[in-house]
Amino acid sequence: MGNGWLLGSGIALPQRRVANSWFEERIDTSDEWIRTRTGISERRFAEIGEKTSDYALAAARQAMQTAGLGRDDVGMVVVATSVPDMTFPSVANQVIESLGLTTAFGYDVGAACCGFVFAMSAADSQIRAGLARNALVIGADIYSSLLDMNDRSTCVLFGDGAGALAIGPSADGRGVLHTCLRSVGGHIDVLGCRGGGTAGRTSMTATGHEDGRIFMDGPAVFRLAVQGCCNAISAVLDMAGLKPIDVAHIVPHQANMRILAKIADHFDYPIEHIETNLKVYGNTAAASVPIALHEALKAGRIVPGDLVLLVAAGAGFNWGAILLRV
Ligand SMILES: CC(C)(COP(=O)(O)OP(=O)(O)OC[C@H]1O[C@@H](n2cnc3c(N)ncnc32)[C@H](O)[C@@H]1OP(=O)(O)O)[C@@H](O)C(=O)NCCC(=O)NCCS
Repeated sequence: MGNGWLLGSGIALPQRRVANSWFEERIDTSDEWIRTRTGISERRFAEIGEKTSDYALAAARQAMQTAGLGRDDVGMVVVATSVPDMTFPSVANQVIESLGLTTAFGYDVGAACCGFVFAMSAADSQIRAGLARNALVIGADIYSSLLDMNDRSTCVLFGDGAGALAIGPSADGRGVLHTCLRSVGGHIDVLGCRGGGTAGRTSMTATGHEDGRIFMDGPAVFRLAVQGCCNAISAVLDMAGLKPIDVAHIVPHQANMRILAKIADHFDYPIEHIETNLKVYGNTAAASVPIALHEALKAGRIVPGDLVLLVAAGAGFNWGAILLRV
């Protein structure tokens, strides 16, 4: 069996653009603060009534089309999300149903902003093991549904969207080469979202929804994100016996432009080879890596044969990186 190789990609973004000025009209913040402290100018917010699976499905459909896969060709669907449509069935099940896939199994991965890297690794492993021929790996999140729009320290950071990759077994050694995944204890309280789970339930039948808004210790998360991404990048480069400069592009999770600048500094890596879309989409959580990768492929910045490094860090605290030959 071959390792997982990139066959196609797709994205789906809400129509509604929300500029920094929208927040200026509502809370004590400024376009200048948001741009200089985060790199974000605008983001997309889904409309009420739109579901995570709507975006996951649209991105997946595009990835299947570009890969030339039909509904009998996909063996696996894995969706990284922390805001599924409902507790269960999974978003993956809904995508499988809507696409009419005939031979697939699917499940969701809940690893917050690191979810896509974890999901990609799961799909690559199951392709290598022969459990699935081709897979759809999707990152889809609607974090606007978790934001307290009066909390200026979180509400300006996030946006909504989905990205998807179709991957299949490689015959020529391209595809996923090395992977590092890590979850470390001691940081449950620095970033998360209470509510919707069994902690805090108030009756036998109900789950607690009293506090379903994102909480975050921004500076602590900033430090962990830089440390986690740098550790993960170093680990996969060591596995491959490569130097940072050997990598054509780094496609990171999009949390803060200053985090990306620190990563570039740490490795003395040219920042223009780090893909960014924060300016226009904000932090789209599990969707940010596949959206950035898709846009780089579409624009021709990443071309077949390039060595690409996907890297992410997020609540848990989790981090991970994947070295991929496109
Ligand atoms: C959130 C983040 C942008 C804040 O930037 P920072 O430079 O660390 O700022 P601080 O949190 O230290 O706050 C500095 C000041 O700005 C203020 N501030 C916070 N948000 C603000 C906003 N939207 N507008 C204006 N001022 C704001 C704070 O209240 C604080 O004011 P004070 O000094 O009077 O108390 C930054 O910490 C960050 O990006 N952290 C990582 C977040 C992240 O990536 N989360 C997702 C991970 S997957």
